[in-house]
Amino acid sequence: MIKAIRKYLPYIAMATGLMFGAANQAIAAGACPDEGKEVSVPTFIGSKIYERTFGRGCGTCHDVAPNPNLLESVKKLSQEEFATVVKNGRNGMPKAGAAIMGIKLVKKSGMSEDEAINAVWTYLSCLSEGKIPAKVKKKK
Ligand code: HEC
Repeated sequence: MIKAIRKYLPYIAMATGLMFGAANQAIAAGACPDEGKEVSVPTFIGSKIYERTFGRGCGTCHDVAPNPNLLESVKKLSQEEFATVVKNGRNGMPKAGAAIMGIKLVKKSGMSEDEAINAVWTYLSCLSEGKIPAKVKKKK
């Protein structure tokens, strides 16, 4: 029995290592990659999507109660759940995929719709983690 455990221990260690590795990666993917006013390109584009979608931005509705405060939403929704609401709409939330893809800066960036939606998610996560100010600049 002990022999068998000894024999398999390296594999067990490897499997748990892989599991933790994957979990860490998921957390890393969710975390804000930026700090301060100068941010990476996707976060910058995310901020513009927030400001410009539907002309006046997501804040037209989301900076106003009782609509959900997206800084709270990014804490409770997964990236995928967030993307699903943005793409499909829900009750008072309009489908926003096409409007996001219609923003000039997004078109020019060559981002896919999923990448663009993840960019807003990242921007909002950064804000919610208190790592960046609402007005950001693109890192040189
Ligand atoms: C016309 C107003 C309006 C605009 C513009 C708008 N939303 Fe919404 N959004 C809503 C409303 C209202 C809800 C709540 C829907 C519900 O209760 O099911 C919502 C819900 C959401 C949710 C789910 C929140 C949660 O906590 O469950 C997300 C994510 C979201 N909106 C993202 C966005 C993003 C990103 C933009 C800009 C690209 C945007 N919204 C623009 C009105 C709007």
